[in-house]
Amino acid sequence: MTDLSRRRFLKASGVAATAGAALMGTGFANAQEPSPPGATTLPYPREGIAKAGGLKVDVPMPFNYPDPESFCQIIKTGRPVPGGVGPDGDIVAFSTQCTHNGCPLSYDKVARTFKCGCHFSIFDPEMRGQMVDGQATENLPRILLEHDTKDDTLYAVAVEGLIYGRQCNLL
Ligand code: FES
Repeated sequence: MTDLSRRRFLKASGVAATAGAALMGTGFANAQEPSPPGATTLPYPREGIAKAGGLKVDVPMPFNYPDPESFCQIIKTGRPVPGGVGPDGDIVAFSTQCTHNGCPLSYDKVARTFKCGCHFSIFDPEMRGQMVDGQATENLPRILLEHDTKDDTLYAVAVEGLIYGRQCNLL
């Protein structure tokens, strides 16, 4: 190595070392470390919405979750269903904004389905909110429930699926 190239090398090394020390002082040196798990997500609220013993078969009860702008219904189907909770495993809940264009859904007791009056999509609450007909291409978002056997309270604890019109369920 010639004197000139050695001088250039030492000069460049010094610049790099100085820059590294400066970055460590500002905290940028740690920028490559991973974020703590869950740092960018918000927890869903745990909200009591009904008593299991107070629900009647095929009579849905409206509630709002995870915030007042999100319309949902809880329903007792009268027979065990996938994802059902409560003493009989027959209680489920869903967002009742149609996944096509957000129209409100109504429950049809005869067909035992949620129906949309706008473009006639149909969803099956006994099959985890599966879309069975119509313009919608997504199933209904499920409201995940927990049943407290001590006092018979049903709690909404999370949403599975994206509520219509939102980029995130929690606003
Ligand atoms: S808004 Fe429900 S089918 Fe179009």
